[in-house]
Amino acid sequence: MATKAATNSSKQDLRAWLAECEAAGDLQHVSGADREEEIGGILDVYQRKMGRPTLLFDNVPGYQPGFRVCANVLTSAKRIIRTLGLPPESSEIDLVRYWRDTFRNAKMIAPREVNTGTLMENEFYGDDIDLLKIPTPRWHEGDGGYYIGTGCMVIMKDPDSGWINYGAYRVQVHDKKVATLMTSKGKHGDLIKKRYLDAGKPVPIAVVVGMHPALFMVAGLEVPYGKNEYDAAGGLIGEPVDVIYGPKTGLPIPAHAEIAFEGFIHPGDVIDEGPLGEWTGYYAGGKQKEPVIRVESFFHRNDPILLGAIPAVPPNDDTFYRGTYRCGVVWHQIEAAGIPGVTGVWAHEAGGSRLWLTISIKQMYGGHSKQAGLIASQCHAGAYANRVVIVVDDDVNPAEMNEVVWALCTRMDPKEDITILNNCWSTHLDPMSYPPGNNSFNSRVVIDACIPWLRKATFPPVVRSSKPLDERIFAKFKDVLPKN
Ligand SMILES: Cc1cc2nc3c(=O)[nH]c(=O)nc-3n(C[C@H](O)[C@H](O)[C@H](O)COP(=O)(O)O)c2cc1C
Repeated sequence: MATKAATNSSKQDLRAWLAECEAAGDLQHVSGADREEEIGGILDVYQRKMGRPTLLFDNVPGYQPGFRVCANVLTSAKRIIRTLGLPPESSEIDLVRYWRDTFRNAKMIAPREVNTGTLMENEFYGDDIDLLKIPTPRWHEGDGGYYIGTGCMVIMKDPDSGWINYGAYRVQVHDKKVATLMTSKGKHGDLIKKRYLDAGKPVPIAVVVGMHPALFMVAGLEVPYGKNEYDAAGGLIGEPVDVIYGPKTGLPIPAHAEIAFEGFIHPGDVIDEGPLGEWTGYYAGGKQKEPVIRVESFFHRNDPILLGAIPAVPPNDDTFYRGTYRCGVVWHQIEAAGIPGVTGVWAHEAGGSRLWLTISIKQMYGGHSKQAGLIASQCHAGAYANRVVIVVDDDVNPAEMNEVVWALCTRMDPKEDITILNNCWSTHLDPMSYPPGNNSFNSRVVIDACIPWLRKATFPPVVRSSKPLDERIFAKFKDVLPKN
């Protein structure tokens, strides 16, 4: 039995995060947009360009005023830098470096059980449960339904070891007490679910659909098998996550969450699910039979806020958060393979955080750049559904596309520097994967856009101020120079 009262931590409260966005001029309120197409339509316009403010929808027609929807959450590097408490002047590559170091030395802080929390302001059981009172949008015109779980935490417990896992797996709401879950093969939640179902037992499950974005972030990251995401989330925010234990499942649920429900998946209980627009920008997965969550309890704060993290034509909600994390891990894995001199890694915004990787290196020996490119395209964090890897010199910022294209156009010899790889690791969500029916392979290209090693000494000089001149100019004229 817990004896501790919940803290009032701003690091675990979505409303504190929204207040920070508001203070930074980074929050757009929208009143009166409907859930059928207008919330999704407005969000789509916002997502066409990254860096636009977070959206907070209220007064959704047909729903209780105050029942809100928040979206466009992690769609700017600056917002993620603020969420993680990094220095505001940090660059995109500083963020990548932060994830690389976090991956290398992950701090773990176990969650803390508390008596209650704001989540429990409203509790419903049995016939009083009504998930349909949340104004869940149809996020894209072509979606097959309403997805309450996108920016979500789906919590399950391994029946044998007791390991608690949470992940972001999409959850469609079908009726007052009926939802579905879609976990891709091999995801930790999928493995745990299968263990119960193979033994003919119901799967206890808790779903949280409104929480501080730092807790959500961990849901979408590949925390190693057997490790508790709550511990990783505690490490990320620097304090234990306050949890209450769900009365129906005994699963830990963040005490400061906005909306959560618990229930069971029963063996053989499946219904049609999907489609939902995907991170590649297509509907490739279609409609499938997926397991039903029979909901047995439902909790929400007063005036609850649904959190949406919506896949779409990239850039989208994944771009800077999963993209920069992936870059940090790719950077680590290239170095772990023994390749020195990496100075930056960037997953281009339009590549859905996976399809396009640019690596910058300080060339040290002949073949170095080719080696870095091939490892990036095949290491664990970089290989899945990658299509393009570009390697550039360290004077090129991999996060600045103009610089990357310039290097491609001026330092790459198409007859020497392009390597095509076949039969690489992909997914049916990749519209160019093959073979039909079992499309788990793709082909990809590794392009060496570095100054050719043998021409390093004679390559024409670059027309840009030298470092010493730059420093003299910045020291003397900083008042008239642009700030970024
Ligand atoms: C917004 C969002 C939606 C996602 N949807 C799904 C999904 O529907 N199914 C799935 O298997 N993975 C989905 N993912 C990816 C997983 O969350 C991710 O791979 C995570 O690492 C899974 O946790 P696990 O490693 O504990 O299995 C999604 C990620 C995000 C950020």
